[in-house]
Amino acid sequence: MKKLLGLGLGLGAVGIGWLAYGALVEAKRLTVERRTLRLPRWPRRLDGYTIAVLADLHVRDEYSVELARRAVELALDENPDMVVLPGDLVGHWLPESPWLLEAVLEPLLLMGGSAIAIPGNHEYWGGDASLLAPILDELNIRYLRNEVYGHAGINWVGIDSLNAQQANPGGPLSEALLEDDPVVVLWHEPDAVDLLPAGADLMIAGHSHGGQWRFPWGWTPMTTRNGEKYVEGFFPNAPTPLYVSRGVGTTGPPARLGVLPEVSILRLVSG
Ligand SMILES: [Fe+2]
Repeated sequence: MKKLLGLGLGLGAVGIGWLAYGALVEAKRLTVERRTLRLPRWPRRLDGYTIAVLADLHVRDEYSVELARRAVELALDENPDMVVLPGDLVGHWLPESPWLLEAVLEPLLLMGGSAIAIPGNHEYWGGDASLLAPILDELNIRYLRNEVYGHAGINWVGIDSLNAQQANPGGPLSEALLEDDPVVVLWHEPDAVDLLPAGADLMIAGHSHGGQWRFPWGWTPMTTRNGEKYVEGFFPNAPTPLYVSRGVGTTGPPARLGVLPEVSILRLVSG
C-alpha cells in the first residue's frame, strides 16, 4: 500500500513538473516558422507574396496578452504583405476582452488595412463572434464571415467556424472563382479542407495547436474536433493545398510540450 501511495505521489510530482515546464518554458518559446509554399497555379506576378499567420492567440489574461503581443511584433518584423488571423483570437469572452485585444492588435494598424481575421470556435465561447466586429473595424482589420474580399490582386475568402456550425463555404468560394485572381481561403478548422469545394489555391487554418502536447514516445493526449487529420504544417496534396499553423496561444492547461508556438511566415511562389 505504501509503495502504491509512493508511486502515485511520484507520478503526480512528475505531472506537475511537466505542467510547470510546459507553461513556463515551452508555451513561451515562440518560433518564427518561415516556409516557401509552391502552389501550382499561383501567378508569377505575385511570386514571393508573403503572408504572416497569427493563429489561435487565445487572449484571456495578462500572460496571453504578453505572448500575443510578442507574436504580433515578430510578424511585423518580417515585413509581410498581409497578416492573417485565422480564428480563436479570444480564449473566451470576458468583459475586458475588447481592451485586451486592442492592446495586442493595435500595432497591426501599421499594415494599413492589409490584415484579415475570421472567427474560430472560441469566438462563440461566452459570447458571439459578432463581438469582434467593432474591435477589428477600429484597427482597420478586415473581418470576413462567409465573405470574399478582393485585395492586392488576390481574392480572400473567410469562412466562419465549422465547429460553431456557422460555416458556409460554397457561396463565397463560387463568388471568388468568378474572377481570374488567385483565391486564398481562411478557415479555422483544418480538417474542413475536405469539405471545401475545389478551386482555391491555398487554405490557411489553425485550431489544432499542433496537438499542443506531444510526449517523447509520440503520445498526444489532446485532440480537437476537426483538427485531427491535418495537425500542423503544409499539406500540398490535400484537396486544396493547406497550411496549418501550430498557433500562438494555448487551450485547456496553459502549457505546451514538444509543440512550440508559431508565427508562420508563408512565402507563396508559383510552381
Ligand atoms: Fe479552435
